[in-house]
Amino acid sequence: MGRLNTKRLKIITDILMTVLLFVLMGMHLTGQMWHEISGTVCFVVFIIHHILNRRWIAGIPKGKYPASRVMQTVINIALFIGVILLMFSGMAMSGYVFRWLPLPLSSSTARSIHLMVSYAVYLVMSMHIGLHFGLVIGKAGRKVSGMKKPWRGIITWASRIIALLVAVYGLLALFSRKLLSYITGNVKFAFFDYDESVISFYLDYAAIMGLCIFVSYYIYKFLRPGFFKRMRGITQWMKAHMVKAVILGTVIVAGVILTAYYGTSYISRHYFPVELNRDEAIGTDKLDMEKRKGIIISFTRVGNTNFDPNVDAVSSASLMDENGRLVGNAALLGDMAEQITGFDRYEIVVEKKYSSSYGATVSEARTEMNNGFVPTFVGEQPDLSEYDTVILIYPLWWWTLPVPVEEYMKQKDMEGKNIYCIVTHGGSGLGSSISDLKEVTNGTVSDDALAVMDKDVTNAFPDVLNWIRKWK
Ligand SMILES: Cc1cc2nc3c(=O)[nH]c(=O)nc-3n(C[C@H](O)[C@H](O)[C@H](O)COP(=O)(O)O)c2cc1C
Repeated sequence: MGRLNTKRLKIITDILMTVLLFVLMGMHLTGQMWHEISGTVCFVVFIIHHILNRRWIAGIPKGKYPASRVMQTVINIALFIGVILLMFSGMAMSGYVFRWLPLPLSSSTARSIHLMVSYAVYLVMSMHIGLHFGLVIGKAGRKVSGMKKPWRGIITWASRIIALLVAVYGLLALFSRKLLSYITGNVKFAFFDYDESVISFYLDYAAIMGLCIFVSYYIYKFLRPGFFKRMRGITQWMKAHMVKAVILGTVIVAGVILTAYYGTSYISRHYFPVELNRDEAIGTDKLDMEKRKGIIISFTRVGNTNFDPNVDAVSSASLMDENGRLVGNAALLGDMAEQITGFDRYEIVVEKKYSSSYGATVSEARTEMNNGFVPTFVGEQPDLSEYDTVILIYPLWWWTLPVPVEEYMKQKDMEGKNIYCIVTHGGSGLGSSISDLKEVTNGTVSDDALAVMDKDVTNAFPDVLNWIRKWK
């Protein structure tokens, strides 16, 4: 009876962790507070799961290691390390549950680790489920083999075809959601599509899980005792079917090359200097904006950061170098909008400057958000009552508005003004910034905001032009 309970408990913890993992992947759907709460509950369940599996853990140094056991042990250890890293990095940048806990890890480093490891853990956890999938298939298989003849075959083949379709769909979702780019660290900030339906999000993630289960189940099955005999069988088959073997080999090699190419092609600006040629970046088009009296309000790191005079565009990631002068992305987008509309300009400048280092700025921005910091604005302030239209341009910080932008918009009376936003980002699109902005301003914020990825800013002039043309 006792054994039965432990077995059931193990299954319950497995199911709970899988469900929680789904919830955790959709942070933009739950919000950060629930993300942290579910992460903490998942960690507690994870510990219980390991206590229940203590016999398996104690057995690690003992016995023989056939290939299938090597695979199982590697997956389980990778999962264990991954979850510990996730929990630790999550605690270090916590804004709710562990906010009180000082940990020796900057929130910038914590974010990078959390982002890379979370997607890897999702895949490894799914593969872990694949290791135990034999049990599910075994049970279902026994039921099916008790069926009458035509049904037995139909159900067996239908399930195989469905499994294959799920795996193919999962592979497409894996690429379209750029999971490999997150895992390899090529995308620095997660992209959350806040307008996407919950169903399509979870369908994709379920299919990705299905793919991993499929792959690990079959590899595990293949590696089980008798592996060398099966390998000899394959070699004999290859010798007998040379043409088929070559085609199959080519398909596999092409798959690996494509995976490597798409997985690493998002090498971000953060590693490369970007030289700005103003004449190439900013076109000559102008729109007739007579009907509107507008102002462009922007915020960027340059002017709000203590840059070393010798800093280059590489160490000051996300910036551009114009003949030795640093230019921020939001500022360049502001120059484009100014060329097109002829609107007035205002740059938000705060008294307390951010650090020169990109990573440190990312941490400082997080601390400001967590502590409710209220910046002081410096420089001449425009009389906003003159304007009916605002083009607000800002970089996305931690998936939302930078604190100075949020605070500025909160403090200023925007009653009766139409606000159009251009958001420059490192992968997350608009984040939740538009809905967050609506909560702090009394102006009318247009839902039709323009998102420009940092690496695309220099080529964004046509997009800015078309976007303004739409609402002008
Ligand atoms: C403090 C900080 C936080 C950031 N957070 C995000 C983020 O959550 N999502 C994202 O896609 N990019 C993020 N980025 C990247 C910037 O949004 C992006 O590089 C932007 O183009 C920088 O514009 P700027 O040069 O005008 O400052 C962040 C950058 C900094 C400095």
